[in-house]
Amino acid sequence: DTVEWSAEQTGKSGYDHFMLKEINEQPTALRQCLSGRVDEVSGGVTVDELDDLDTPSAVQFVACGTSYHAALYATTLLHEVGIPANAYLASEYATTHPPLPNDTLVVGITQSGETADTLSALRNAESRGAETLALTNVVGSSAARECDHALYLRAGPEIGVAATKTFSSQLVGVNLLVERLRPSGSPTGELRSLIAGLRDLPGHVQQVLDDSTALELVDELFGAEAFFFIGRGLHYPVALEGALKFKEITYEHAEGFAAGELKHGPLALVTENTPVFAIVTGDDEEARKTLGNIKEVEARDAPVVAVTDGKAEVERYADYVLEIPETHERTSPVLANVQLQLVAYHMAARLGRSIDKPRNLAKSVTVE
Ligand code: G6P
Repeated sequence: DTVEWSAEQTGKSGYDHFMLKEINEQPTALRQCLSGRVDEVSGGVTVDELDDLDTPSAVQFVACGTSYHAALYATTLLHEVGIPANAYLASEYATTHPPLPNDTLVVGITQSGETADTLSALRNAESRGAETLALTNVVGSSAARECDHALYLRAGPEIGVAATKTFSSQLVGVNLLVERLRPSGSPTGELRSLIAGLRDLPGHVQQVLDDSTALELVDELFGAEAFFFIGRGLHYPVALEGALKFKEITYEHAEGFAAGELKHGPLALVTENTPVFAIVTGDDEEARKTLGNIKEVEARDAPVVAVTDGKAEVERYADYVLEIPETHERTSPVLANVQLQLVAYHMAARLGRSIDKPRNLAKSVTVE
């Protein structure tokens, strides 16, 4: 599996920044990631490069930054198919000595395949006898070469320091990995609707990209004191990622929280000057609980921005709405995240920030 990266692809192609170009490349990146790997007719998932991978008893993820948020999302998916899983910040892995029960697969999520902390965590696991897998965008990277297995994202080169299309591809890649590891006998009833959700994802992402609401919203929220992001379940990692992207490129104070944790501290910071982005899709118990959290921040006069598919009727409580198409519960976090990428990008552009190369940050951190 190699992907040709042409000179034209590595230029900005008329966009002001690589980041905006890469945000807009997401439909293509996701199509490439899925190509030949999902079969709508049989409802199956095939990943050629993982032919010799057996279903493990447990999975541990190691990753940094944005990739760690993909790891958090991944653990919830593995739990759905009955495989115990944990996500570790790679820089904490070796020092916290997590036990490695027999037959544990250790997965490094790293778009570059070169992050020193992630490589070191993978080497630590390998030295203790674990089987290792790299979920990476770069063929021939250190992680790909050193691990027993590699699953490639095929997102194409990402130049902007802030990860965008590679994060979306990681979420899709994680779905492929999890379906590939699904233990035989675990219920597959949902698989067809998941495959439909994945098939529709590039088009749905395009719909979000065509929506100008995020750009308009930036004028409304400009000058706020701090920006908070909340979500539950699969939207919790998106809340963390939304905040990380926002702080990385705007240099404004932004924090992501599990919605249920608000009342355990963060609520003390919420005022009429702290917009809260709440990600809420579907109309299940989880959505209802997030609605409750939205009411809590409304009561403190904070402007609420709902990122929603509209099913929970959150519009009634939100000051602003960023819409996403209705889709499978595993694909809606990808769409919500694209809306938040656009908000971060447009706010940073409005502030005149160095978007592709934020101060103090590097695309790939090759020292521990
Ligand atoms: C750096 C980048 C982040 C990225 C992290 C992990 O900090 O600025 O955008 O998420 O490294 O990178 P990796 O290549 O391992 O995914």
